[in-house]
Formats: sequence, structure tokens, C-alpha cells
Amino acid sequence: MDGVKGRLGPYVSEMRELFSLSLEQIDEMILSFHQEMELGLKGCGSSLSMLPTYARRPTGSEVGDYLVLDIGGTLIKVLKVSLQGGRHSRVTGMKSYAVPSHVMNGDCEEFFNYLAVCVESFLRGVSCQGGFYPMAFTFSFPLEHTSLSSGRLIRWTKGFNVRNVLGKDVSVLLNEALQRRGMGFIRVASLMNDTVATLVAGAYRDPYCDMGVILGTGTNASYFENWSRIYSSTGGRSEVVINMEWGSFNRLYRNMFDEVLDKMSPNSGEQQFEKMTSGKYLGEVMRLVLKYLKENGVLSVRKESLELSHLIRSEFLHLLLREDRDILVLLGWEDLKKEELNLVRRIARFLLERSARLISAAIVAVVKWMDPCFKCSHKVAVDGALFTQNQLYRRMVKRALREILGEYASNVSFFVVKNGSAIGSAVSASYALANGARSM
Ligand code: GLC
Repeated sequence: MDGVKGRLGPYVSEMRELFSLSLEQIDEMILSFHQEMELGLKGCGSSLSMLPTYARRPTGSEVGDYLVLDIGGTLIKVLKVSLQGGRHSRVTGMKSYAVPSHVMNGDCEEFFNYLAVCVESFLRGVSCQGGFYPMAFTFSFPLEHTSLSSGRLIRWTKGFNVRNVLGKDVSVLLNEALQRRGMGFIRVASLMNDTVATLVAGAYRDPYCDMGVILGTGTNASYFENWSRIYSSTGGRSEVVINMEWGSFNRLYRNMFDEVLDKMSPNSGEQQFEKMTSGKYLGEVMRLVLKYLKENGVLSVRKESLELSHLIRSEFLHLLLREDRDILVLLGWEDLKKEELNLVRRIARFLLERSARLISAAIVAVVKWMDPCFKCSHKVAVDGALFTQNQLYRRMVKRALREILGEYASNVSFFVVKNGSAIGSAVSASYALANGARSM
């Protein structure tokens, strides 16, 4: 059993069983994904919010330099994005800022003030001519849009819990904070979810891109939907970009570790798909599994090394698989017996593999929804560290896709859009520019 023999062998089998996902289960999941998508689009109760947005398919000829504020899961980025037309874009300046936990869990004003301080820090030394500057705002949480530049927060995810923001227009809150810091000359011109921005950035680069996926701290997807399939359809446009909020899909086979993780999280019962797949949670599931094995006398690691929540970060999983020694030292596991270490590595692989299979299944569900007979070729734009910085994980996603789709797998391809969440927002701000605002 690949280096795990004797007394540890049965634990490999137990964990493989708990984290496996058969093709039959994947087929069922695709069916229930479609049912939830349909309910969500009709505006009926569904675990998939299927939020309509004001984003448009870009032409690829949009130009200009734009200031972008991008708040994702763990970082706030302020960027200058240059759209060069001819389907080319470049990030010409970027600063990243951590989100302190007191800001993540603090009060509305403190949170938006912090965002304004990040913008101010970025702009130090950048010359701004007088007048009004449109800013593209990427806000990676579920939004009910009221226009291209405004939207109300539906719920917090990924461990954020800022008070007094739910139901409010986050663009208004940011404009007020900018004004308070003496930057009233900057106004939010476009507001976008990161997944929608990734799709727009993908379609800016490649006209065949019809889906955007984020695989980072959280996970989510967006795609081009026929306007006629939407409950609020009142004519006008032929298509609309849907922010699926697939992280909250809940018709899943969960095991005891998924349930414990969910119960311990601040948003228990919510974001179940995200908790089984994304970067914020994979390391934590791993910690719970290892804690269980320690309690059962299987592992000789120190108990304290497994006590602290979120001690094991998701990127550690592939470092463990790459046999990186530093990670063992960091975790205080350098004395683990070879056999135990092999068991730990097998578990890391099971967790990544399950995530990759769930993500592939969800991608297949969306592509099949757009094109039931897989007649066309589909390009999926992806951003987020779990995918972009982990070659093994990318291979797992592609392998699962081939297993699910067989010969049709060649109709679905992925491409990484680095900083897609910012570039797509800049494209969107260019529409605002066309309507009267000025670029940087
Ligand atoms: C979470 C958010 C979603 C975002 C995703 C990726 O699932 O709810 O809006 O797109 O994380 O950042």
C-alpha cells in the first residue's frame, strides 16, 4: 500500500473511503447542480444564488489606465491596470495589504476606512491630475447589484464578519470612506465580484472564454447566461453574466470531518461546497483528520501541534506532497516515522483529489448547462492560488475532467488569468469612462 503498511494500512483505507467521490456520485451531483441552478435563476429557494450582474461581454478593444481596489479573501490589492486594446492588458503597479483580523471582524466604518487607507498608501507618489477618477472595485462577496457601480452585500463569507454592512451598498460605503480621508476625487465607477471580473478578463483576452472560476481562499464561478432563462427577464439584452456563488452549493456527501469543520465555523451550515474545496478550509480539514488519528494513537506528533485552528495552511498540503523538509520543521514533525509521514502524505493527496473532483464536477455541470451536447469549445478563465500555484492540483482537475467527460473533455480547456479579478474590473470601469468619467 505505497509505503503505508502494517498497522497504518487500514487508516489509509478508511480515509480513502471517507474522501472518495465515485463517478456515480459525480453524476448525481451534476444533476442536483442543474436543479439548484434552475431554482436559483427562477428566484426560488436554492443553495445557488445565481445573481444577475451588469457586466458585459468585452470587445477586447477597451483601452485606458485604471485604478483598481481588489478585496479577495486574505489580501487587499490596489493596482493600476493598463488596458492596451488588441486583447492585451498589463498590471503596471500593485501593492498588497493583509487584512487584519480586527478589521475582518470589526465595524463597518473601520473596515471601509482601512480600504481607503490602502488606496491612499498606493497613491502616495502617484501623480493625480485634478478632477474625478473612476475606480474599479472588486468585492469578492455575494452582491445584489442595482447597477454597474452599485450593489448591496447579501452575506459575508470566508471568515469575514464586519458589522453593519449587510444589505448596504458597498460602493456608497467606500465612496464615503474615501471622502473622509480627503480622496473625494476618487469615485467607484464599477463594482464587481472577483469571479465575474475573472470571466470578463478572460473574455477580454479570448473571445471563446465563457466561464470564470476562482479557486483561492474561496471558490466561485460565473458564466454567460441567456437572458430568457432568468426570472426577472424583461428583454433588452440577450445575455447576462451570472455570479453563481457556487461555494454555497449544499447537496453534497459530507463526512464527519466536514461536519465538525462546519460546526466550528462562524457561518455554520453555509458555504458547504467551499468548505470542502477551497484554500481557506483544506488545511483545516487536514488538521481535523490528523487530530483524530492522534487521538486514536496512530500518529506520534505532539498533540499541541494539532490543537490550534487553521494551524495547517492549505499550501502545506502540496508542500508535504513535494516532500518539502522545511514544512516538517515548521510544523514540528521532523521526527515523524517514515510510515506515519507516508500516511500524512496520502491524506493530503485524498483531500486535494476530492477538492479537484468536486470542482471538475461543478465545471462540467455549468458547461453542460450552457451546451448540453458539448457541441462547442469552452474556455474557462481561472484565477486563485489553489489552482495557479499548484501544478499537482491543476493536473488533478484536468484528470477528473477527462474521467467525467471522456472524449468531450477536449472541448473544455482552462487558462490562468493572473490578476483577472482586477483586469476584468478595469474593463468594466472602461464602460463608465465611456459614460463620462476620466481614467488615471
Ligand atoms: C466566496 C464569496 C464569493 C467569491 C469567492 C471567491 O465564495 O462568497 O463571492 O467570489 O469566495 O473569492
